[in-house]
Amino acid sequence: MSVVYLNGEYLPLDQAKISVLDRGFLFADGVYEVIPAYGGRLLRMQEHMQRLQNSLDAIRLKNPLSSQQWLSIVEKLLIENPNSGPGEDKSVYLQVTRGVAAKRNHGFPEEVNQTVFMMVNELAPVNKEELRKGVSAITLDDIRWKACNVKSISLLGNILLRQQAHDNDAAEAILINDGLVTEGAASNVFAVINDVLVTAPTGTQLLPGITRDLIIELAVKNNISYEERDFTEQELLMASEIWFTSSTKEILPVVELNGNLVANGKSGPIWEKMIDIYQTYKIKLRLGESS
Ligand code: PDD
Repeated sequence: MSVVYLNGEYLPLDQAKISVLDRGFLFADGVYEVIPAYGGRLLRMQEHMQRLQNSLDAIRLKNPLSSQQWLSIVEKLLIENPNSGPGEDKSVYLQVTRGVAAKRNHGFPEEVNQTVFMMVNELAPVNKEELRKGVSAITLDDIRWKACNVKSISLLGNILLRQQAHDNDAAEAILINDGLVTEGAASNVFAVINDVLVTAPTGTQLLPGITRDLIIELAVKNNISYEERDFTEQELLMASEIWFTSSTKEILPVVELNGNLVANGKSGPIWEKMIDIYQTYKIKLRLGESS
């Protein structure tokens, strides 16, 4: 049984309990992060901590722990959950809620004791052959709110959109806001348009993905032309490559969109290049040569 962290304690998963009055449970009043760890080394921990801070600030919640405390807990939890399978990669899920109030009331409680929860999950090892087959996607109207940059645990919009994609035999939804591509239901979106790698600029309509930022950084380092700009659904439909990126899925090529093949229905040359660059980056991280 896995060991989780809850409010200062390390517990077997089935012993971790919260009150039904927790505002995370009643209102989805909280924020979260998902951080990959390759061979025990955390990918971009500082950036995840900064995004957590931004999310906490946005919902007016004090950070209950210092960066050093977060790091110690994450590292201890990784040790408490030794590898069981062939994969030595994990993802750390952490969430902070506005805690347990005496009674249900929409306004903030006066005394706030945040609930801090953390767990570790296996990350499936990347199999390039499998990844190369790609996935199918559909475009859907982005029905979410105007603060998608906050990594909120309130994910009802995202899960309804993801499920709608599944109901249409697609792995993921690509969300369209006013004719523009924002992101996936649980991922960022890149497209290759006229040989240029394009992704939407950050703002309030999408999550500033840590994987997204890393890919942009790697594109620059490796002379892959890229542009951060708004792009339309029409442009997406004409793209020669489309990818989803996230901490758990890394870089996933989309080979079918709305029932039509993307280009020739195979993952493209820029994906081939980027996935290798990304895997090399991970190898360096494992060796302690990158962060
Ligand atoms: N989700 N956009 C949304 C809406 C997401 O939920 C995610 C990731 C991303 C990619 O962000 P990052 O590269 O930092 O993982 C973009 C995580 C993995 C999840 O909810 O499980």
